Amino acid sequence: MSDGLDSLYREIILDHYKNPRGHGVIESADAEAEGQNPLCGDEVSIYVAFGEDGETIDEVKFSGRGCAISQAATSMLTEMVQGRTATEVATLDKDELLEEIGIPLTPVRLKCAMLGLTTLKVALHKAKGTPLPEGIAGFDELDLK
Ligand code: FES
Repeated sequence: MSDGLDSLYREIILDHYKNPRGHGVIESADAEAEGQNPLCGDEVSIYVAFGEDGETIDEVKFSGRGCAISQAATSMLTEMVQGRTATEVATLDKDELLEEIGIPLTPVRLKCAMLGLTTLKVALHKAKGTPLPEGIAGFDELDLK
């Protein structure tokens, strides 16, 4: 990747970190979960409201605190999943989010990037009563409830 493109992606990440989209709380959300990265203590809580069909993601918000990658990736995620179905997002390929982030990540940073996505998946599986899939990205290393 050229340096120019790399720095553009970095700027976008920083913008999401400073001006997070979908920041907040949904009272009486249809789905919610909290995730924490025990390595650093950073955390996100995710709230989802479904549309009338009880399946389409109508609104998604998050709150939390942590490193730029964890918070920016979660912000990007809220834009990415809006209007999609819970079933689709519960099995979203992590590469889709990684493409959006656009810069190569070390294994430690990868966990930061997966905090929001994993927490969202847990929220959706909990709401739908479906079992968490084996090998859900980062699941083993994160504290989720
Ligand atoms: Fe904690 Fe990134 S350093 S999630």
